Amino acid sequence: MATSQPAILPDAGPFSLYVVMKVVGNKDTVIEQCKSLHQTLAVLNEQQPGADLRASIAFGQSFWSSLEKGCPADFFDFRELGKGDITAPATGGDVLLHVNSSRHDLNFYLLRRFIEPMAKEIEVLDETYGFKYLDSRDMTEFVDGTENPKTIEARSDVALIKEGDFAGGSFVMVQRFIHNLPAWNRLSIQAQEKVIGRTKPDSIELDDVPAASHVGRVDIKEEGKGLKIVRHSLPYGSVTGEHGLLFIAYCSGQHNFNVMLESMYGESDGKSDQMLRFTKAVTGAYFFAPSVEMLDSL
Ligand code: HEM
Repeated sequence: MATSQPAILPDAGPFSLYVVMKVVGNKDTVIEQCKSLHQTLAVLNEQQPGADLRASIAFGQSFWSSLEKGCPADFFDFRELGKGDITAPATGGDVLLHVNSSRHDLNFYLLRRFIEPMAKEIEVLDETYGFKYLDSRDMTEFVDGTENPKTIEARSDVALIKEGDFAGGSFVMVQRFIHNLPAWNRLSIQAQEKVIGRTKPDSIELDDVPAASHVGRVDIKEEGKGLKIVRHSLPYGSVTGEHGLLFIAYCSGQHNFNVMLESMYGESDGKSDQMLRFTKAVTGAYFFAPSVEMLDSL
């Protein structure tokens, strides 16, 4: 099978970087930079043993279509969801760079090397640095990732396209959320647990998961089988400025993302995710991460 890009399957190190770019100039220069990324990674990993620097490059639907490489089935754009105070914007983007490692400085250094030769050709829509927080908690202080597929086999089963022209590729969903922690922290722990659907200290699923809790909205079965995605989200931000969760996940198709989003934003049965009263998405986009071989062939 074709090789998946390195940031997708392995458990990530404690630091990450997510950059969404729009191509405003010469497309060929951008593609050359994208193609050289994995070579740069190999050199840096050799020079900096133990950094476990991994990255993946993914492309938005219209940019990918312009490369004339064919389109993986059903590659569609993120659309705005929800109404009133609970909404998800669609903010787009042509290129997504996702990096993780055990060193924040190397993530930063890699981005500088990546962007410098093509700075005139792109506009950065979002550049966010994530970090592992406490024992893998989101800033709501609930453990995030408990139900994520664990083994490489399970992750590859969920995240990668298995056969055909796009084998080894993966779809990516990104949303940056800004939390309202003062409002969240006014809730008792018991009330917070009802909003999430799991216990706070040890992330055990509640006996009676409320339908409008986060887990109640995204733990969805179709024909008796749970819908799965591989999440690589991490908290980001500063104490006195914006902070929250950079949600990113990979899947072999967009269906699971779409069903989860429609359920969270009240579009499947009118119930929306109560967690969204305390956090707000400010970006939202879908991308496709081709296999390493396909990226090389662009
Ligand atoms: C589970 C937090 C956004 C999909 C969880 C859990 C937490 C959490 C605490 C329970 C522990 C776990 O299994 O990981 C958050 C926060 C979010 C967010 C703070 C944004 C601010 C999303 C989005 C999606 C999503 C946008 C998908 C569209 C899932 C899935 C699970 C999960 C699939 C596992 C459910 C299960 O099988 O029990 N999330 N999440 N989450 N979340 Fe989220």
